[in-house]
Amino acid sequence: MNPTARTSPLPLPDHPVLVVGATGSIGSQVVRALLERGAPVRVFVRSPQKVRDLPPEVERVIGTLEDREAIARALRGVHAAFYVSPHDAAEETLAQNFVSACEREGVRLVFSGVHADGKNRLSRLVMRTVFGLMMPHYKPKLRLAERVRTSRTNPVVLIPGNYFQMDEVCREELLAGRYPLPLGLVPRVDTRDVGEAAARALLDPGVPSGGYALVGPESLSGEQTAAHWSAALGRPVTYAPGLAVTDAIFDRAYGGRKALDCQKSYRMVGKVKVRTSPADLAQTTFLLGRAPRSHAEYAQETAARWQAETPPTPEVRKSAVPVGAS
Ligand SMILES: NC(=O)c1ccc[n+]([C@@H]2O[C@H](COP(=O)([O-])OP(=O)(O)OC[C@H]3O[C@@H](n4cnc5c(N)ncnc54)[C@H](OP(=O)(O)O)[C@@H]3O)[C@@H](O)[C@H]2O)c1
Repeated sequence: MNPTARTSPLPLPDHPVLVVGATGSIGSQVVRALLERGAPVRVFVRSPQKVRDLPPEVERVIGTLEDREAIARALRGVHAAFYVSPHDAAEETLAQNFVSACEREGVRLVFSGVHADGKNRLSRLVMRTVFGLMMPHYKPKLRLAERVRTSRTNPVVLIPGNYFQMDEVCREELLAGRYPLPLGLVPRVDTRDVGEAAARALLDPGVPSGGYALVGPESLSGEQTAAHWSAALGRPVTYAPGLAVTDAIFDRAYGGRKALDCQKSYRMVGKVKVRTSPADLAQTTFLLGRAPRSHAEYAQETAARWQAETPPTPEVRKSAVPVGAS
Protein backbone atom coordinates (compact mmCIF):
# COMPACT_ATOMS: atom_id res chain seq x y z
CA MET A 1 0.00 0.00 0.00
CA ASN A 2 1.32 3.44 -0.87
CA PRO A 3 -1.09 5.87 0.70
CA THR A 4 -1.16 9.45 -0.51
CA ALA A 5 -3.56 12.03 0.90
CA ARG A 6 -6.70 12.78 -1.10
CA THR A 7 -6.73 16.28 -2.63
CA SER A 8 -9.91 16.58 -4.72
CA PRO A 9 -13.55 15.64 -4.03
CA LEU A 10 -14.57 12.18 -5.16
CA PRO A 11 -17.05 11.62 -7.99
CA LEU A 12 -20.28 10.29 -6.46
CA PRO A 13 -21.60 6.86 -7.46
CA ASP A 14 -24.84 6.50 -9.45
CA HIS A 15 -25.80 3.50 -7.34
CA PRO A 16 -26.48 3.51 -3.59
CA VAL A 17 -24.00 2.54 -0.90
CA LEU A 18 -25.50 -0.09 1.44
CA VAL A 19 -25.00 0.37 5.19
CA VAL A 20 -25.60 -2.48 7.64
CA GLY A 21 -25.99 -1.54 11.32
CA ALA A 22 -27.25 1.94 10.35
CA THR A 23 -28.98 2.37 13.71
CA GLY A 24 -25.81 1.53 15.67
CA SER A 25 -22.92 3.63 16.92
CA ILE A 26 -20.69 3.12 13.85
CA GLY A 27 -23.24 2.53 11.08
CA SER A 28 -25.09 5.75 11.98
CA GLN A 29 -21.83 7.68 11.56
CA VAL A 30 -21.19 6.01 8.20
CA VAL A 31 -24.67 7.07 7.03
CA ARG A 32 -24.06 10.64 8.26
CA ALA A 33 -20.69 10.86 6.49
CA LEU A 34 -22.10 9.48 3.21
CA LEU A 35 -25.06 11.88 3.25
CA GLU A 36 -22.74 14.82 4.02
CA ARG A 37 -20.80 13.93 0.87
CA GLY A 38 -24.03 13.77 -1.17
CA ALA A 39 -23.80 10.02 -1.82
CA PRO A 40 -26.91 7.90 -2.44
CA VAL A 41 -27.51 5.66 0.60
CA ARG A 42 -29.48 2.48 1.25
CA VAL A 43 -29.81 1.12 4.79
CA PHE A 44 -30.49 -2.48 5.80
CA VAL A 45 -32.39 -2.37 9.09
CA ARG A 46 -34.56 -4.54 11.27
CA SER A 47 -36.97 -1.79 12.25
CA PRO A 48 -38.24 1.01 9.95
CA GLN A 49 -39.24 2.95 13.09
CA LYS A 50 -35.61 3.33 14.12
CA VAL A 51 -34.69 5.12 10.86
CA ARG A 52 -37.77 7.33 10.61
CA ASP A 53 -35.63 10.46 11.10
CA LEU A 54 -33.35 9.73 8.14
CA PRO A 55 -34.02 11.85 5.02
CA PRO A 56 -36.68 10.38 2.70
CA GLU A 57 -34.18 9.87 -0.13
CA VAL A 58 -32.39 7.20 1.94
CA GLU A 59 -33.59 3.82 0.65
CA ARG A 60 -34.73 1.40 3.35
CA VAL A 61 -34.51 -2.37 3.03
CA ILE A 62 -36.07 -4.13 6.00
CA GLY A 63 -34.61 -7.46 7.03
CA THR A 64 -32.17 -9.27 9.25
CA LEU A 65 -28.73 -10.75 8.73
CA GLU A 66 -30.24 -14.19 9.42
CA ASP A 67 -32.31 -13.85 6.22
CA ARG A 68 -30.21 -14.51 3.11
CA GLU A 69 -32.99 -13.47 0.73
CA ALA A 70 -33.29 -10.10 2.45
CA ILE A 71 -29.51 -9.64 2.22
CA ALA A 72 -29.59 -10.43 -1.52
CA ARG A 73 -32.41 -7.88 -1.96
CA ALA A 74 -30.44 -5.25 -0.04
CA LEU A 75 -27.28 -5.79 -2.10
CA ARG A 76 -28.97 -5.65 -5.50
CA GLY A 77 -27.40 -2.91 -7.63
CA VAL A 78 -25.30 -1.29 -4.90
CA HIS A 79 -21.99 0.50 -5.46
CA ALA A 80 -20.38 -0.87 -2.25
CA ALA A 81 -21.43 -2.15 1.17
CA PHE A 82 -20.50 -1.37 4.77
CA TYR A 83 -20.63 -4.10 7.42
CA VAL A 84 -20.27 -3.96 11.18
CA SER A 85 -20.62 -7.15 13.18
CA PRO A 86 -23.47 -7.00 15.70
CA HIS A 87 -22.99 -8.10 19.30
CA ASP A 88 -24.61 -11.48 18.70
CA ALA A 89 -23.72 -15.03 19.72
CA ALA A 90 -24.13 -16.04 16.04
CA GLU A 91 -21.88 -13.23 14.76
CA GLU A 92 -19.77 -15.57 12.62
CA THR A 93 -22.81 -17.02 10.83
CA LEU A 94 -24.28 -13.55 10.28
CA ALA A 95 -20.98 -12.31 8.83
CA GLN A 96 -20.70 -15.41 6.64
CA ASN A 97 -24.21 -14.75 5.25
CA PHE A 98 -23.29 -11.19 4.36
CA VAL A 99 -19.75 -11.73 3.04
CA SER A 100 -20.81 -14.63 0.80
CA ALA A 101 -23.62 -12.50 -0.64
CA CYS A 102 -21.16 -9.66 -1.40
CA GLU A 103 -18.89 -12.16 -3.15
CA ARG A 104 -21.80 -13.42 -5.26
CA GLU A 105 -22.86 -9.88 -6.21
CA GLY A 106 -19.28 -8.67 -6.82
CA VAL A 107 -19.67 -5.82 -4.30
CA ARG A 108 -16.77 -4.08 -2.53
CA LEU A 109 -17.03 -4.69 1.22
CA VAL A 110 -15.87 -2.17 3.82
CA PHE A 111 -15.86 -3.66 7.32
CA SER A 112 -15.18 -2.09 10.70
CA GLY A 113 -14.30 -4.25 13.67
CA VAL A 114 -11.76 -6.16 15.68
CA HIS A 115 -9.01 -7.63 13.50
CA ALA A 116 -5.41 -8.80 13.99
CA ASP A 117 -3.79 -7.54 10.80
CA GLY A 118 -0.55 -8.60 9.18
CA LYS A 119 1.07 -8.83 5.74
CA ASN A 120 0.02 -12.40 4.98
CA ARG A 121 -2.19 -15.22 6.22
CA LEU A 122 0.57 -16.73 8.36
CA SER A 123 1.47 -13.51 10.16
CA ARG A 124 -2.22 -12.83 10.75
CA LEU A 125 -2.70 -16.36 12.12
CA VAL A 126 0.14 -15.77 14.60
CA MET A 127 -1.36 -12.42 15.61
CA ARG A 128 -4.84 -13.94 15.95
CA THR A 129 -3.51 -16.76 18.10
CA VAL A 130 -1.72 -14.37 20.46
CA PHE A 131 -4.69 -12.01 20.63
CA GLY A 132 -7.08 -14.95 21.08
CA LEU A 133 -5.06 -16.19 24.06
CA MET A 134 -5.31 -12.78 25.71
CA MET A 135 -8.98 -12.35 24.79
CA PRO A 136 -10.67 -15.73 24.27
CA HIS A 137 -14.07 -14.14 23.75
CA TYR A 138 -12.66 -12.22 20.73
CA LYS A 139 -11.87 -15.42 18.81
CA PRO A 140 -15.11 -15.44 16.75
CA LYS A 141 -14.66 -11.71 16.03
CA LEU A 142 -11.10 -12.33 14.83
CA ARG A 143 -12.16 -15.26 12.65
CA LEU A 144 -14.97 -13.33 11.01
CA ALA A 145 -12.69 -10.36 10.31
CA GLU A 146 -10.20 -12.71 8.64
CA ARG A 147 -13.11 -14.10 6.58
CA VAL A 148 -13.75 -10.53 5.37
CA ARG A 149 -10.03 -9.83 4.83
CA THR A 150 -9.60 -12.90 2.59
CA SER A 151 -12.94 -12.54 0.79
CA ARG A 152 -13.32 -11.91 -2.93
CA THR A 153 -14.82 -8.47 -2.28
CA ASN A 154 -11.77 -6.22 -2.72
CA PRO A 155 -12.24 -5.63 1.02
CA VAL A 156 -11.19 -2.72 3.19
CA VAL A 157 -10.93 -3.74 6.84
CA LEU A 158 -11.05 -0.82 9.28
CA ILE A 159 -9.59 -1.58 12.71
CA PRO A 160 -10.72 1.13 15.12
CA GLY A 161 -9.30 1.62 18.58
CA ASN A 162 -11.52 2.01 21.63
CA TYR A 163 -14.26 4.55 20.81
CA PHE A 164 -14.09 7.94 22.55
CA GLN A 165 -17.90 7.82 22.68
CA MET A 166 -17.80 4.79 25.02
CA ASP A 167 -17.16 7.38 27.75
CA GLU A 168 -20.77 8.54 27.42
CA VAL A 169 -22.04 5.38 29.12
CA CYS A 170 -20.67 6.87 32.33
CA ARG A 171 -22.05 10.40 31.93
CA GLU A 172 -23.60 10.30 35.41
CA GLU A 173 -20.33 9.17 36.98
CA LEU A 174 -18.36 11.84 35.06
CA LEU A 175 -20.77 14.51 36.29
CA ALA A 176 -20.25 13.12 39.79
CA GLY A 177 -16.45 13.59 39.37
CA ARG A 178 -15.28 10.03 38.55
CA TYR A 179 -14.05 8.22 35.42
CA PRO A 180 -14.59 4.53 36.26
CA LEU A 181 -13.81 2.62 33.02
CA PRO A 182 -10.42 0.84 33.28
CA LEU A 183 -7.95 2.05 30.63
CA GLY A 184 -4.26 1.08 30.75
CA LEU A 185 -2.88 2.87 27.69
CA VAL A 186 -4.85 2.28 24.51
CA PRO A 187 -5.39 3.74 21.05
CA ARG A 188 -8.77 5.47 21.04
CA VAL A 189 -10.74 7.02 18.18
CA ASP A 190 -13.78 9.20 17.56
CA THR A 191 -16.67 7.26 15.98
CA ARG A 192 -17.23 10.24 13.62
CA ASP A 193 -13.75 9.59 12.23
CA VAL A 194 -14.59 5.91 11.79
CA GLY A 195 -17.69 6.95 9.81
CA GLU A 196 -15.71 9.38 7.66
CA ALA A 197 -12.90 6.91 6.96
CA ALA A 198 -15.49 4.28 5.99
CA ALA A 199 -17.22 6.75 3.65
CA ARG A 200 -13.89 7.40 1.90
CA ALA A 201 -13.26 3.67 1.44
CA LEU A 202 -16.82 3.12 0.21
CA LEU A 203 -16.74 5.94 -2.32
CA ASP A 204 -13.16 5.82 -3.57
CA PRO A 205 -12.30 2.70 -5.59
CA GLY A 206 -8.68 3.91 -5.48
CA VAL A 207 -8.39 3.00 -1.78
CA PRO A 208 -6.32 -0.20 -1.82
CA SER A 209 -7.80 -3.33 -0.30
CA GLY A 210 -6.28 -4.21 3.08
CA GLY A 211 -6.35 -3.49 6.79
CA TYR A 212 -6.28 0.08 8.15
CA ALA A 213 -5.87 1.07 11.77
CA LEU A 214 -8.15 3.91 12.86
CA VAL A 215 -6.76 5.80 15.84
CA GLY A 216 -6.74 9.19 17.50
CA PRO A 217 -3.57 11.31 17.67
CA GLU A 218 -2.19 9.39 20.70
CA SER A 219 -2.91 6.46 22.99
CA LEU A 220 -4.70 7.41 26.18
CA SER A 221 -4.59 6.18 29.76
CA GLY A 222 -7.44 6.39 32.25
CA GLU A 223 -5.68 9.29 33.98
CA GLN A 224 -5.32 11.25 30.72
CA THR A 225 -8.93 10.55 29.79
CA ALA A 226 -10.11 11.77 33.22
CA ALA A 227 -7.93 14.91 32.86
CA HIS A 228 -9.61 15.74 29.51
CA TRP A 229 -13.03 15.39 31.12
CA SER A 230 -11.91 17.51 34.04
CA ALA A 231 -10.81 20.32 31.69
CA ALA A 232 -13.97 19.98 29.60
CA LEU A 233 -16.40 19.96 32.54
CA GLY A 234 -14.47 22.60 34.49
CA ARG A 235 -14.40 20.52 37.68
CA PRO A 236 -12.21 17.73 39.08
CA VAL A 237 -12.70 14.28 37.56
CA THR A 238 -10.71 11.49 39.19
CA TYR A 239 -9.71 8.26 37.47
CA ALA A 240 -11.32 5.60 39.70
CA PRO A 241 -11.29 2.30 37.79
CA GLY A 242 -13.41 -0.57 39.05
CA LEU A 243 -14.61 -3.72 37.32
CA ALA A 244 -17.78 -4.08 39.42
CA VAL A 245 -18.73 -0.48 38.68
CA THR A 246 -17.89 -0.96 34.99
CA ASP A 247 -20.04 -4.10 34.79
CA ALA A 248 -22.95 -2.29 36.45
CA ILE A 249 -22.61 0.65 34.05
CA PHE A 250 -22.72 -1.57 30.93
CA ASP A 251 -25.68 -3.54 32.32
CA ARG A 252 -27.44 -0.21 32.88
CA ALA A 253 -26.51 1.19 29.43
CA TYR A 254 -26.95 -1.85 27.16
CA GLY A 255 -27.65 -5.16 28.88
CA GLY A 256 -27.47 -8.46 27.02
CA ARG A 257 -24.67 -9.53 24.72
CA LYS A 258 -23.43 -5.97 24.06
CA ALA A 259 -22.95 -5.39 27.80
CA LEU A 260 -21.12 -8.71 28.13
CA ASP A 261 -18.81 -7.91 25.19
CA CYS A 262 -17.99 -4.49 26.66
CA GLN A 263 -17.43 -5.89 30.16
CA LYS A 264 -14.97 -8.45 28.79
CA SER A 265 -13.23 -5.89 26.59
CA TYR A 266 -12.62 -3.53 29.50
CA ARG A 267 -11.01 -6.39 31.44
CA MET A 268 -8.34 -6.30 28.72
CA VAL A 269 -8.08 -2.59 27.95
CA GLY A 270 -7.63 -1.91 31.65
CA LYS A 271 -4.44 -3.96 31.66
CA VAL A 272 -2.68 -3.31 28.34
CA LYS A 273 -0.25 -0.57 27.39
CA VAL A 274 -0.23 -0.04 23.61
CA ARG A 275 1.36 3.03 22.10
CA THR A 276 -0.13 4.47 18.90
CA SER A 277 2.38 3.83 16.15
CA PRO A 278 3.28 6.39 13.46
CA ALA A 279 2.23 3.79 10.85
CA ASP A 280 -1.27 3.47 12.39
CA LEU A 281 -1.62 7.24 12.54
CA ALA A 282 -0.50 7.51 8.88
CA GLN A 283 -3.17 4.99 7.80
CA THR A 284 -5.89 6.93 9.64
CA THR A 285 -4.68 10.25 8.21
CA PHE A 286 -4.62 8.76 4.72
CA LEU A 287 -8.25 7.67 4.86
CA LEU A 288 -9.46 10.88 6.50
CA GLY A 289 -7.32 13.22 4.39
CA ARG A 290 -6.58 15.10 7.66
CA ALA A 291 -5.42 14.46 11.21
CA PRO A 292 -7.87 12.53 13.43
CA ARG A 293 -9.98 14.27 16.08
CA SER A 294 -8.47 14.38 19.56
CA HIS A 295 -10.11 13.13 22.74
CA ALA A 296 -9.62 16.52 24.41
CA GLU A 297 -11.65 18.19 21.60
CA TYR A 298 -14.29 15.45 21.76
CA ALA A 299 -14.67 15.86 25.54
CA GLN A 300 -15.01 19.66 25.17
CA GLU A 301 -17.74 19.31 22.51
CA THR A 302 -19.58 16.64 24.48
CA ALA A 303 -19.45 18.58 27.75
CA ALA A 304 -20.77 21.68 25.94
CA ARG A 305 -23.63 19.59 24.49
CA TRP A 306 -24.46 18.17 27.94
CA GLN A 307 -24.40 21.64 29.46
CA ALA A 308 -26.76 22.93 26.74
CA GLU A 309 -29.23 20.13 27.52
CA THR A 310 -31.53 20.21 30.54
CA PRO A 311 -29.34 19.68 33.60
CA PRO A 312 -29.82 16.22 35.13
CA THR A 313 -32.33 16.18 37.97
CA PRO A 314 -31.10 15.16 41.46
CA GLU A 315 -32.82 11.76 40.84
CA VAL A 316 -30.75 11.18 37.67
CA ARG A 317 -27.57 12.19 39.49
CA LYS A 318 -28.38 9.58 42.13
CA SER A 319 -28.37 6.89 39.37
CA ALA A 320 -24.56 7.13 39.20
CA VAL A 321 -23.21 3.71 40.16
CA PRO A 322 -21.56 4.12 43.57
CA VAL A 323 -17.88 3.26 43.93
CA GLY A 324 -17.57 -0.28 45.29
CA ALA A 325 -20.86 -1.45 43.73
CA SER A 326 -20.95 -5.17 42.99
N1 LIG B 1 -16.83 -0.26 21.52
C1 LIG B 1 -15.61 -0.13 21.00
O1 LIG B 1 -14.80 0.67 21.49
C2 LIG B 1 -15.25 -0.96 19.80
C3 LIG B 1 -14.01 -0.77 19.24
C4 LIG B 1 -13.67 -1.52 18.11
C5 LIG B 1 -14.58 -2.41 17.55
N2 LIG B 1 -15.79 -2.59 18.12
C6 LIG B 1 -16.71 -3.57 17.46
O2 LIG B 1 -17.76 -2.88 16.80
C7 LIG B 1 -18.88 -3.76 16.70
C8 LIG B 1 -20.12 -3.07 17.20
O3 LIG B 1 -20.39 -1.93 16.45
P1 LIG B 1 -21.40 -0.85 16.97
O4 LIG B 1 -20.83 -0.26 18.22
O5 LIG B 1 -21.77 0.05 15.86
O6 LIG B 1 -22.66 -1.77 17.38
P2 LIG B 1 -24.08 -1.33 17.85
O7 LIG B 1 -24.14 0.13 18.19
O8 LIG B 1 -24.51 -2.32 18.89
O9 LIG B 1 -24.96 -1.54 16.53
C9 LIG B 1 -25.25 -2.81 16.02
C10 LIG B 1 -26.11 -2.63 14.78
O10 LIG B 1 -26.35 -3.90 14.18
C11 LIG B 1 -27.75 -4.07 13.98
N3 LIG B 1 -28.09 -5.48 14.12
C12 LIG B 1 -27.94 -6.25 15.22
N4 LIG B 1 -28.31 -7.51 14.96
C13 LIG B 1 -28.74 -7.53 13.66
C14 LIG B 1 -29.27 -8.53 12.81
N5 LIG B 1 -29.43 -9.79 13.25
N6 LIG B 1 -29.61 -8.20 11.55
C15 LIG B 1 -29.45 -6.92 11.11
N7 LIG B 1 -28.94 -5.93 11.86
C16 LIG B 1 -28.60 -6.24 13.12
C17 LIG B 1 -28.39 -3.22 15.07
O11 LIG B 1 -29.71 -2.93 14.71
P3 LIG B 1 -30.91 -2.69 15.78
O12 LIG B 1 -30.97 -1.20 15.96
O13 LIG B 1 -32.12 -3.25 15.12
O14 LIG B 1 -30.56 -3.41 17.05
C18 LIG B 1 -27.47 -2.01 15.06
O15 LIG B 1 -27.79 -1.15 13.99
C19 LIG B 1 -18.59 -4.99 17.52
O16 LIG B 1 -18.26 -6.08 16.67
C20 LIG B 1 -17.40 -4.55 18.38
O17 LIG B 1 -16.59 -5.64 18.73
C21 LIG B 1 -16.17 -1.87 19.21
